[in-house]
Amino acid sequence: MTSDSPPTVSRSPFPASPVITIDGPSASGKGTVAERVARALGFHFLDSGALYRLTALSAMKAGVALDDETSVARLAAELPASFHDGAVWLVDENVTAAIRAEAVGAGASQVAALPAVRDALLGRQRAYRQPPGLVADGRDMGTVIFPDAPAKVFLTASAEARAERRYKQLIEKGNSANLTDLVADMQARDARDTSRAVAPLRPAPDALLLDTTHMDIDSAVQAVLAHYRSRS
Ligand code: C5P
Repeated sequence: MTSDSPPTVSRSPFPASPVITIDGPSASGKGTVAERVARALGFHFLDSGALYRLTALSAMKAGVALDDETSVARLAAELPASFHDGAVWLVDENVTAAIRAEAVGAGASQVAALPAVRDALLGRQRAYRQPPGLVADGRDMGTVIFPDAPAKVFLTASAEARAERRYKQLIEKGNSANLTDLVADMQARDARDTSRAVAPLRPAPDALLLDTTHMDIDSAVQAVLAHYRSRS
């Protein structure tokens, strides 16, 4: 081959399955919206935050320090996790509730700042792209994991509105909660997620920005479906 031969491009005979990426800060409602959009379209659903939460929980259980990048990345690469019937499993332990604990959420945000951990989870996330399509929920779905997704949405809401939603969820589950603390916690987590060096939380340039501060879940779901239909 001479240096001016055209490069060989290997193309799959099948077009890639469509992906709708839904990114945004915690408690913006993106998880619920993403699940409902996936159900409406009969698409697969990826909750990428659950993978970071599972990584943090595995490290905590194994007594691995959350800033030990090499060891945490190894745990992430070998994560014995499975999702079925709405439950999350780590080997044969149902960890659906355990991964939602505030301490595990904070741990997830810590391990998510480690580049080797993000690398270790990359292939696993992309493998969710299967026919007939995927709705992917996270922070970097549209910017890093699926940059070629045909439809991208960045869902946001004010920190106060998000803290109020989290407050209601906690009270409904019989937990005690303090709204002022929740607002501060939300702002701290946003600051950490947006300022980290690797895959910071920010909208992809081609994402639809959807502010749900004054919007209910149904309207947000309809807006995402309309955006997807306008792109396909
Ligand atoms: O979405 P969720 O709150 O479950 O995510 C837990 C943490 O994992 C987030 O605070 C964020 O730091 C991290 N995360 C991430 N990239 C993703 C999904 C989650 O960094 N795609």
